Amino acid sequence: MTPGPDPADVATSAGGARPSGRVGSVDVAGDSPGAHVGSATCPVLRARGIAKSYRRGLWPRRRDVAVLCGAELELCAGEVVGLVGENGSGKSTLMKILVGALDADAGSVEVSGRIGYCPQEPLLYEQLTCDEHFGLFGVAYLLDPDATRAESEGLYDTLGFGRWRSTQVAELSGGTRAKLNLALALLADPDLLLLDEPYAGFDWDTYLRFWSLTASRRAAGRSVLVVSHFVSDHERFDRIVELHDGRAIPR
Ligand SMILES: Nc1ncnc2c1ncn2[C@@H]1O[C@H](COP(=O)(O)OP(=O)(O)OP(=O)(O)O)[C@@H](O)[C@H]1O
Ligand SMILES: [Mg+2]
Repeated sequence: MTPGPDPADVATSAGGARPSGRVGSVDVAGDSPGAHVGSATCPVLRARGIAKSYRRGLWPRRRDVAVLCGAELELCAGEVVGLVGENGSGKSTLMKILVGALDADAGSVEVSGRIGYCPQEPLLYEQLTCDEHFGLFGVAYLLDPDATRAESEGLYDTLGFGRWRSTQVAELSGGTRAKLNLALALLADPDLLLLDEPYAGFDWDTYLRFWSLTASRRAAGRSVLVVSHFVSDHERFDRIVELHDGRAIPR
């Protein structure tokens, strides 16, 4: 069997309830009462002073290259925010830090409620079918099997990929993998959805379905942060933040 992603990555990809307490060097307020930041005046996500460097090159040219240098970001309930920036500006790095999949060198991240995360590269098991992915992620989210079935039916419908339910991921097209990747992030109806270029492989119909889904989440008071490169998307966001020189700048 082709090795799939590490179960720990799956849990992160699934974006279930985040652990309370510290994740690496980043202070994380998780689900514990009192640690939440969500309220009418408070954002559901607050990232402060995020710094991250990667080590590059081989000795004797090995060096640390700063990608994020004090990036700050806040999201309120019911906001749909676009995260833009040129290739390599650190968007995926910031997303991974926000969900706790990567340690920052400095800074703090506070979140309220449950997070759903859709990574840029789908983290899927090649040998499992779509239905089996929903079953596995449902267990990771501690969902009742009936609730998992009901939610997954709704997601098959919304994203239009029900006919692939019994197909192994290894046999899916890139766009259908992207749909499954997004659907898994949505499975537990998260309060905060972090999507890293979620619709790169979508056909036009699915792209429109994605935006109508995002609009209904906004209407339900859920928050969405979307990495996007498409200029045409910009009017769909409440706000756009650009990563530039390691900092997040309102646009
Ligand atoms: N594990 C790693 N080790 C070393 N350098 C890394 C690593 N991951 C990312 N980088 C570097 O950090 C920088 C930011 O990468 P990141 O993937 O966060 O950018 P991005 O804004 O998401 O880019 P894209 O638009 O291409 O997806 C890039 O220069 C990349 O080469
Ligand atoms: Mg990226």
